Amino acid sequence: MKYGSSVLGLVGVISSVAAAAASSSADPTPSFSTVSPSYSEIQAAAATAGVGEFASDVEGSFFNRFVIIWLENTDFEAADTQADMEWLSQYAIKLTNYFSLTHPSEPNYFAAVSGDYMGMNSDDFFRIPSNVSNVVDLLDTKGISWAEYQEHQPYAGYQGFNYSNQETFANDYVRKHNPLILFDNVVNNSSRIENIKNFTSFYDDLENESLPQWMFITPNMTNDGHDTNIDVSGSWSRSFLEPLLNNSYFMKDTLVLLTFDENENYAIPNRVYALLLGGAVPEKLQGTEDSTFYNHYSELATVEANWDLPHLGRGDVDANVFSLVADDLSIATVDIDLSSIYNNFSAPGYYNDESIPIPPPNVEATNRNGKGVLDSVKNVWGEEYASYTAQSFTYSTATDNFAKTVASSVTLNSTVLGSAFDATTVSTSATSAAAVSSTSATAVTSLASASASSSAGSSSAAATATKNVATTAALAPASGIFGVLIAILAMI
Ligand SMILES: *[C@@H]1O[C@H](CO)[C@@H](O)[C@H](O)[C@H]1NC(C)=O
Ligand SMILES: *[C@@H]1O[C@H](CO)[C@@H](O)[C@H](O)[C@H]1NC(C)=O
Ligand SMILES: *[C@@H]1O[C@H](CO)[C@@H](O)[C@H](O)[C@H]1NC(C)=O
Ligand SMILES: *[C@@H]1O[C@H](CO)[C@@H](O)[C@H](O)[C@H]1NC(C)=O
Ligand SMILES: *[C@@H]1O[C@H](CO)[C@@H](O)[C@H](O)[C@H]1NC(C)=O
Ligand SMILES: *[C@@H]1O[C@H](CO)[C@@H](O)[C@H](O)[C@H]1NC(C)=O
Ligand SMILES: *[C@@H]1O[C@H](CO)[C@@H](O)[C@H](O)[C@H]1NC(C)=O
Ligand SMILES: *[C@@H]1O[C@H](CO)[C@@H](O)[C@H](O)[C@H]1NC(C)=O
Ligand SMILES: *[C@@H]1O[C@H](CO)[C@@H](O)[C@H](O)[C@H]1NC(C)=O
Ligand SMILES: *[C@@H]1O[C@H](CO)[C@@H](O)[C@H](O)[C@H]1NC(C)=O
Repeated sequence: MKYGSSVLGLVGVISSVAAAAASSSADPTPSFSTVSPSYSEIQAAAATAGVGEFASDVEGSFFNRFVIIWLENTDFEAADTQADMEWLSQYAIKLTNYFSLTHPSEPNYFAAVSGDYMGMNSDDFFRIPSNVSNVVDLLDTKGISWAEYQEHQPYAGYQGFNYSNQETFANDYVRKHNPLILFDNVVNNSSRIENIKNFTSFYDDLENESLPQWMFITPNMTNDGHDTNIDVSGSWSRSFLEPLLNNSYFMKDTLVLLTFDENENYAIPNRVYALLLGGAVPEKLQGTEDSTFYNHYSELATVEANWDLPHLGRGDVDANVFSLVADDLSIATVDIDLSSIYNNFSAPGYYNDESIPIPPPNVEATNRNGKGVLDSVKNVWGEEYASYTAQSFTYSTATDNFAKTVASSVTLNSTVLGSAFDATTVSTSATSAAAVSSTSATAVTSLASASASSSAGSSSAAATATKNVATTAALAPASGIFGVLIAILAMI
């Protein structure tokens, strides 16, 4: 695609955001700006917001409940030597080769529930269009209950960019750490949005013995270590989990994954600390280590294997299933050469290069538990997948250094990108995006078009790859060496 179509694509994104801001009573999208609502608007919405109650008991092959807890920005070694983490590890299987997918936070949260980060390389206000499916669509096929528990979210389903401590205005709840709030197919559905709850609802549901079977827990920016350090997040983790380890209702057939969104040091491989614990972990495996290669897509693959679900056609298809589950179900895990994995920047894709379309999921693949793609994914993407494969686009594998990415007339895979894609170009663009990033009631979308600076044979892949779109919520434009297009959208 040419530059002109990128601009048109960008305008399309802006008008869909504007259209979504105008709501009808049947549509749960709030009438005020979802980017930065005022405190009074938040209070008014909180007064009427419902809280979802969704419980079920759909038996899984290995566990009946999956609890995912994500902490923030910590290198493997730092977590591994923290006293509270060491204490927890005696009850856990420690995963020693679990990798994050990219930097910074938001693309990791996005990808962990959908199987792709699609080039996302910032923490800005993103909305994922309703034709992109996620774990909720998979769980729905069997009526498996789910919820998120987000600490200090002001009400269930709050869509704003942040909810700060209202006394100190320190970071507290942030949208970028809330995976499912990003998806239009969740927030534009009144029976789904109410399952994105305040963390305090966890204790209501625990007391009521009505916890869902899949849940994602995000502590606030203090407790998850983002604005503090591993001693704070480690201590929070132990204080949260220690009483639960003695709670027979919580523990029964429950698998808990405690991990980190990404590591701290971008210059080293993006390996994070991860523990599997809970009543589903047999005593003989407690205090052991598992060195199988995993990444955030393993969270999806394990859920699919456990409940024998279809797949999303993305990174979930060939990700390794956690071996305690895989071994039990006779599913093979695959070893890969870990020496080439850095996962320290986002490969090109829709969210950093508007000229690259959303990649169609692989609707012909079979996942680790032998199931095909989710029907609705095939219905929406089948034709596009067929036309892409007809043009011989190839998919990189989930174990590649990069997410699945397609671009017009070039094949972007790790072979091509690994040699020709210049990481310094990405970090330069990321800096320009960061420079314009902050919060405001006004959204500005800037398209920074960086020139290819790859020395190692600047291929057309590299040239395409270096156009970056940064969607931000600030007034200050990117400037300097970039050709910049700024579109200002007043959010009402
Ligand atoms: C959300 O959680 C905080 C503590 O985590 C609590 O103080 C607040 O009252 C909760 N709000 C709602 C609406 O439940
Ligand atoms: C969001 O963060 C900004 C910047 O810190 C702050 O001014 C604003 O009050 C916060 N919004 C809410 C609803 O807490
Ligand atoms: C995060 O939550 C804890 C309670 O769990 C609270 O002590 C802390 O003040 C909160 N952080 C902010 C910035 O409000
Ligand atoms: C929200 O759902 C309604 C009804 O299903 C649909 O008409 C509308 O296009 C959806 N909006 C978005 C942003 O997905
Ligand atoms: C809304 O969510 C419910 C429950 O997950 C689901 O059954 C239904 O299909 C969804 N509706 C749409 C229009 O996606
Ligand atoms: C517990 O469940 C009952 C019945 O569904 C409900 O009325 C009540 O509000 C729930 N309590 C809590 C603390 O969630
Ligand atoms: C959990 O149970 C063990 C053994 O009964 C006990 O020693 C420990 O203090 C309990 N921990 C908590 C947090 O209740
Ligand atoms: C990723 O890691 C490699 C190897 O350490 C390093 O050369 C490169 O600069 C890193 N990229 C970023 C964006 O930090
Ligand atoms: C999915 O949605 C995006 C954004 O609205 C659109 O550009 C794309 O054409 C859609 N693709 C399919 C196959 O529906
Ligand atoms: C990657 O792309 C190159 C160039 O198109 C091709 O030769 C190679 O076979 C591809 N590798 C994979 C793993 O698809």
